[in-house]
Parts: sequence; structure tokens; C-alpha cells
Amino acid sequence: MYTEHKLIYADARELGHLKDNSIDLVVTSPPYPMIKMWDNLFTSLNPDIGKSLSKDDYFSSFELMHKELDKVWTELYRVMKNGSFVCINIGDATRTIKDRFQLYANHSRIQTKFFEIGFDVLPVILWRKQTNAPNKFMGSGMLPAGAYVTLEHEYILIFRKGNKRFFTSPDEKLNRMESALFWEERNMWYSDIWEDLKGTKQNTNDKELRQRSAAYPFLLPYRLINMYSVFGDTILDPFLGTGTSTFAAMACGRNSIGYEIDSSFSKSIHNKISGEILGLNNYNLQRINNHIAFVESFGKEENRLKYINEYFGFPVITKQETKMKLVFMEFIEEIQANVYRTKYIDDKHIQNTGIKSLSIDYFQKVNTTQLKIAF
Ligand SMILES: C[S@@+](CC[C@H](N)C(=O)[O-])C[C@H]1O[C@@H](n2cnc3c(N)ncnc32)[C@H](O)[C@@H]1O
Repeated sequence: MYTEHKLIYADARELGHLKDNSIDLVVTSPPYPMIKMWDNLFTSLNPDIGKSLSKDDYFSSFELMHKELDKVWTELYRVMKNGSFVCINIGDATRTIKDRFQLYANHSRIQTKFFEIGFDVLPVILWRKQTNAPNKFMGSGMLPAGAYVTLEHEYILIFRKGNKRFFTSPDEKLNRMESALFWEERNMWYSDIWEDLKGTKQNTNDKELRQRSAAYPFLLPYRLINMYSVFGDTILDPFLGTGTSTFAAMACGRNSIGYEIDSSFSKSIHNKISGEILGLNNYNLQRINNHIAFVESFGKEENRLKYINEYFGFPVITKQETKMKLVFMEFIEEIQANVYRTKYIDDKHIQNTGIKSLSIDYFQKVNTTQLKIAF
């Protein structure tokens, strides 16, 4: 099995390289309107934004910034397939302009636009980014009234184009079964508050790039891709930055396309790619190890392990997990400028090296490092 990953260094307000109805899932995080670090970028998209910021016209600045993002959202509706999902990580902004401290509710402005365009607006995930910083209650003493609550969350907005997606042919149905999640992952991942996603470990060595990338943690696109697409789908990120969505798509056995207006990210993504295979495979191995630890305790307590996963040979909780598999990357090659192809280890090879017949006891004895060598 192979997947393909295209990086397009161009403006996503016009997704000219993409055909209508060609994308299965969008996972992305745009520049956040009214957050200072993005003022210059928004001004480069529309110079009127710089003018309204310099006049302290907060209302126009907020609206003009969103009008630039609206162009991307409108293009998404054209390129998405019927039944496909869009997941957008966005934070609201707080800012003091002319002595007036306010919240700029980016999440609700984007939801309103998606509603207008014709997407279905679905329940959101609150990504709680708790901080223990000693100054987190700055501005508030113990005396009422007048302090502001601390902003410690971001959103993952979720939308769908059209009706539910159908899986009709036997091949499509099997692929969907193989793309399943573990039962215990379903319980956590489909919850509306994510508290366990830690801040970003940025892998790029370029300090300046790191500061202006605002990358999200790998697990954010990785989970969403597993939740809202199947093996072989095509994932689009119109605001690619450091390429986190591309790497997540590779680990998940999905194709991907990333748009990024700033071509200076190209070198850093290219350099990162060859060094990523072990790390990416490790995310999948970690899920296996977590599952094994989970069924161990679950089985002992409740004796409810009725099913065996056909691919790995370990117990699972439900019938829907019996055909589930995870893919492991063998190599990534650049097949033309900014187009990468990932080859995955054959199912048969995994079986020959013994993975299929491995028992739960074996998995418990083997740590991740040893498993990596087996591949
Ligand atoms: C919040 S960052 C995305 C970070 C990314 N999720 C990651 O993990 O690295 C937003 C990115 O969108 C890019 N961008 C802004 N406007 C754009 C546009 N019109 N077209 C394409 N990319 C754009 C910025 O250069 C920036 O890299």
C-alpha cells in the first residue's frame, strides 16, 4: 500500500489545483484573527486590515480578517465530497484596544459563516489547555467585581457537507471495518472535552520558524483523521504551517494535500520527513500497547472480552474492532518536487515477522523499542 502527499506553496483563498468534490476530510488551523502575531499576515492578505488596526477600529479589523478566511471556507465547500467533514482548530482572542478589553469570538464567527455557506454545524470539541502559570489569574484579586476568567481552551469546530457518508460496496465496507478505532479510544476521542492533549513539541530547529508557526500537537490531527476518515482517503490542510497534518496523514495511511502561503516552511518540512518514520510508526505501536494494557485490566475486572482482533490476535471489546488494523511505514520518497510517496509494510510481512500470531503475553514482554527493530 502507498499514499501520496502533496505540498502546495500557494494561497488557499483559491484552491485552483483541486477539483470539485475531491477531498474526504479537512483538518486545519488558520491564523487566529485579532491575535497580534498574525496582524502582519492578515495585512499582507488585505492592506485595509493594517489601516483599520492602526485606527484602533477593532470591529472592522475583526470582520476584515474573517472575510479573508471566509474565502478559504467557501472554496472548501466546492472541493469537499458529499458526506465529508471539516475540523478546524481555532482559539478566541482577547485584546485591549483603546483601553477596552474584549473577547473576539473567532469560533462563533466561523460557525456562522459555515452555516451560511451550507455546511451542517456539528457539536464541537473543547480542547482544554490548562495552564498552571502562577500569573494565570492576573488582574483578579480576591475582590469582586471586575476580573476576567482565564482563557484556557481552544475549539475544534466540526462541520459536514451534506448527508452522512455511505459505504456501499463490500470493499468500502471492509476498508471501513479495518479503519476502526479501539472501543476505549472511541470513549475518549468522541467526548466533547479533550484535556489530555499536551502543548506542542515543535520539531523544527529553525527558531524563527518555530516562533511563527503556532503548530498544533501531532495527536490533534492524528485523532481527527482516525475519527473522520478511512484508509486511502485524501486529507486537506489549507493552512499547513510546519506540516503536522501531513505527518499525521502519513501515520494513518491516508493521502494528503497541504497548502501553505509561506514557502519558507518547505525546507524544514523536507528535512523533517526522512527522520520521521520511526517516530510516526511509534504512535501506532503506542496505541497497540495502550490497548493491551487496557484489555488486561478490563478483562480481569469484568470478564467481558468476547472478541479477538483477526489482524493482531489480541482481545477487543466489540465485534466492530475485529478487523481493525494499523499501518506501519516502510519508507517515504520524494517522487517530484514537494510530492512525497509513503510505502507501508505489507500485511503479509507483518504476519511473517510474527505480529499476527503474537499473543497478549508476548506484547506485554516486548517494549516499543524492540518492536521497532522487528520492523
Ligand atoms: C496556525 S498556523 C498552522 C500551523 C499548523 N497547523 C502546524 O501544525 O504547523 C497557520 C498557517 O497558515 C498559513 N496561511 C495563512 N494564510 C494563508 C493562506 N491564505 N493560504 C495558505 N496558507 C496561509 C500561515 O503562513 C501559517 O503557517
